[in-house]
Amino acid sequence: MLTLGIETSCDETGASVVKDGREILSNTVASSLEFHKRYGGVVPEIATRYHVEVIDYVVKDSLKKAEAKLKDIDLVAVTRGPGLVGSLLVGVSFAKALSYSLDIPLIGVNHLWAHLYSGLIEKPDIRFPFIGLVVSGGHTSLVFCENAGKFKLLGQTKDDAAGEAFDKVAKVLGLGYPGGPAIERAARQGNPYAIKFAPAYLGEDSYDFSFSGIKTAVLYYIKAHRLNRKVIANIAAGFQKAVVDCLIAKAIDACKAKGVATLVVGGGVGANILLRQDLTREGRANGIDVIFPSFELSLDNAAMVAAMGYRLFKGRVRSRSGLSAEPNLRI
Ligand code: KG4
Ligand code: ZN
Repeated sequence: MLTLGIETSCDETGASVVKDGREILSNTVASSLEFHKRYGGVVPEIATRYHVEVIDYVVKDSLKKAEAKLKDIDLVAVTRGPGLVGSLLVGVSFAKALSYSLDIPLIGVNHLWAHLYSGLIEKPDIRFPFIGLVVSGGHTSLVFCENAGKFKLLGQTKDDAAGEAFDKVAKVLGLGYPGGPAIERAARQGNPYAIKFAPAYLGEDSYDFSFSGIKTAVLYYIKAHRLNRKVIANIAAGFQKAVVDCLIAKAIDACKAKGVATLVVGGGVGANILLRQDLTREGRANGIDVIFPSFELSLDNAAMVAAMGYRLFKGRVRSRSGLSAEPNLRI
């Protein structure tokens, strides 16, 4: 069974053909990143217009790479939220039109679930329940995942998401957008212990996060000190370590408290090498199997949407033809 996945929640236009929910036959991603860089962040109007311009080509490309034709597609899955409303509407409208004209079922997918599901495409044997950590540009959430359609929120950020904090700190350091990879690059030349930054842990039993204080602490540090390459590298390394340590501490605590031995990470910040290395090591020390998607599947893509859509379809979920974009959809 072939699922066509469509992802347009932010600045990436993605289309993917996935066979039987597991085998990724194609995964095309076109990004409007270049057009946002000069503004230091995603401009919703630019992202929306870009999706409109390229979605047709992206879908055609994914079909071509999968050596499939539209008539071979059995199911269309699309990100319905959360995300930028204009961007989401492009994907949702396109998917609805395909579903209607091809007379195939339509499934609207929660982008955050899909991020968690991206780690499971490559490891289909994972057993529920597991703890999920979603770390993206807009969300930082810890969830208890009972089954493919039942995710219970344990905690989330009270202010900035982890990726958002990376983006904002990179901006004030003049490192450009997107901030995550830029901070990671700069941090390689720095000493993570030279300058100590600490995010708020919000109490021992709390699974909530707060990263806006650490962002402000970086800002004050910059105002009070003269910046050069070495100082920037030390700030980047200290900031990265503080955020990563906090994510690790809360995720491991959640696994222990719930008696769960599997932790699945999803979202763009999951591409961070320090997080991947340190969380894997800390998991091993605590008997917890930590699963990260490949780098490619950590960032926004449509393969995760297709795979999640297939899972929901098998669980008898169907979306109506009136499916609408839900920019504030929760996990
Ligand atoms: O999941 P994603 O691709 O899009 C959203 O759903 O938001 O995540 C994008 C976020 C951005 O904030 C970006 O700076 C961050 O992920 N990111 C990283 C890295 N690569 C991307 N953060 C830290 N380290 C990275 N290597
Ligand atoms: Zn995302």
